[in-house]
Amino acid sequence: MSKDHLYIFDTTLRDGEQSPGASMTKEEKLRIARQLERMRVDVIEAGFPAASNGDFEAVRAVAEAIKDSVVAGLCRANERDIARALEAVKPAKSGRIHTFIATSPIHMEKKLRMTPDEVIIAARNAVRFARNGIGDVEFSCEDAGRSELDFLCRIIEEVIKEGARVINIPDTVGYNVPEQFAERIHQLRTRIPNSDKVIWSVHCHNDLGLAVANSLAAVMAGARQVECTINGLGERAGNAALEEIVMAVRTRQDVFPCETRIDTTQIVSASKMVSGITGFPVQPNKAIVGANAFSHESGIHQDGVLKHRETYEIMRAEDVGWNTNKLVLGKHSGRTAFRARLKELGIEVESEQVLNAAFARFKELADKKHEIFDEDINALMSDDVVTPEQEHFKLVSSRFRSETGETPFAEITLSAGGVEKHAQSEGSGPVDAALKAIESVVSSGSELLLYSVNAITTGTDAQGEVTVRLSKGGRIVNGQGADTDIIVASAKAYINALNKLEAGPERVNPQV
Ligand code: KIV
Ligand code: ZN
Repeated sequence: MSKDHLYIFDTTLRDGEQSPGASMTKEEKLRIARQLERMRVDVIEAGFPAASNGDFEAVRAVAEAIKDSVVAGLCRANERDIARALEAVKPAKSGRIHTFIATSPIHMEKKLRMTPDEVIIAARNAVRFARNGIGDVEFSCEDAGRSELDFLCRIIEEVIKEGARVINIPDTVGYNVPEQFAERIHQLRTRIPNSDKVIWSVHCHNDLGLAVANSLAAVMAGARQVECTINGLGERAGNAALEEIVMAVRTRQDVFPCETRIDTTQIVSASKMVSGITGFPVQPNKAIVGANAFSHESGIHQDGVLKHRETYEIMRAEDVGWNTNKLVLGKHSGRTAFRARLKELGIEVESEQVLNAAFARFKELADKKHEIFDEDINALMSDDVVTPEQEHFKLVSSRFRSETGETPFAEITLSAGGVEKHAQSEGSGPVDAALKAIESVVSSGSELLLYSVNAITTGTDAQGEVTVRLSKGGRIVNGQGADTDIIVASAKAYINALNKLEAGPERVNPQV
C-alpha cells in the first residue's frame, strides 16, 4: 500500500532568522534557498515581506530563483501585510501565502486586544483576501498549543470555508507534551466537519526540548506537513530540527504511515551552510549533523561496528551527506573549473566582477592551503555576504606580534568609506589586540556578545572560521571571516559585523 506524503515546510529563512543575531542578507537567503531546493524541501518559507524592504526583496529574489519548491511568504491577518506578501511571492512558479493570527485567550486579550469574535472576522477576511490573490493559502492559529479547543474548531471551520488549503497548528511557546499535542490534532481533525478539505500542519517550538517529539506525535495523529528548520534554528530555543524529523520518519518506516521526498544526502551540506552563514555552531553531539553523531569512541562500540555496522548504527553517515567533502580544487585549477564547482555547489555569482574577485581569493587561499574542499569554497563565498556597496569598512593590511614574555600587539590599516586609517593596540592576546585596534578607528560603541572559532575542515592548515556577534542600540548582527590565519579571520569577522551594523535595515518581528 502506498504511503501518504509528508510535506516538509522549511522555515529557516523566516522563523530561523528570528533568532537574535541570525539575520541574513538577500544573497545568503538565496544560497540557503537553493540548497533547500536541492534537498527537495516541499515548501520554503522565505521571509516576512512586510517586515522591511530588505525582507521583501529577499522573498522576491527567492521566489524568482526557486522552481522545484513552493515559496511561501508570511503575513499577519491584515490586508496591508497580505498584499505585500502577494507581491513578493508573485514571481514564484508555485507561491503560497501564510497568514496567521493569535487564538489563545492570553494573546487575544493582552496582545491583540481583540475579542474572540473579532479574531474570527479578521481571520476570515484575511483568508478571503489572500485567496483572491493566490490559490495556495495556509492559515496558522498562533499559540494554538494554548488555545481553547472549542474556539480553534470554530475559527478553523470558518477559514476552511474561505478557502484555506493548509491549517497549521503552532505550539508557539513550546508548552505542549507529545501525547497531549497528538490528542489536540486528533480532536481538531475529528470535530471540524470540513477538516478533510485541508492538509494539517504543525509548527513546534523547542522551549522544553520537545519540538521534534511533538511534531512526530502530531504526524501519528494525522498531520501531513511539518514546519521545521535546519539545525533547529529559530526563536528562543528554536524550532523542530528538519534533519531529525526527516531521518526519524525515514529510519522508522515501520512506524510512520508516511514518507518525505527529501534527498537526505544534502542534509549535512545544508547544516554546515546554515551554521556558517548564521554563525550558530552545531553542538558536536547534535543528532544527525553533530560532528560526533556517527563517531564511536568506546572500544566495545568500535568493535561492534567493525564486526557488523548495524550493531550500533541505525543510520549510515553517508545517507545524510557525511564524508562527502571531496577534494575539489587546488593551486593549478583554473577559472573555468572554479566557476563549474561554484555552480555544482549552487552558488550563483551575480557578475563577472564578483567571480573575478572570488577567484582571486581562491588563488590566494590555494597558495596557503594545498587542498581546497567544498567547505572552504562555501566560506570563501561567504566573504561576499556584504555587497560591495555595503562594504564601508575594509581590511587593507595587518601585522601582529605575539612573543613569549611580550604583550601581544596588532597594527591595522583599514579603509573607512575609501579613506585609509591606521591603528595600533596592545591586547591580552593577538585577537584582542586586533579587535581593539579596529575599534579604535571605527568607534562603533558596539558590545561584543560572542566570539567563536571553528576549523572549517580537518588538519592544521585548515581555515579558521570566526564568528563575532555585536549588539548596538537593540540590534544584533553576526559577522563571519575565514582565513588560514585565525587573527586575520577574526579581524575580517569583526569588520564584516561592523559593515552589517552600518548597512543593516530595521526589521519588524511578525509576532510582535
Ligand atoms: O511560532 C509561531 O506561532 C509562528 C507562526 C507565525 C506560524 O511562527
Ligand atoms: Zn514559530
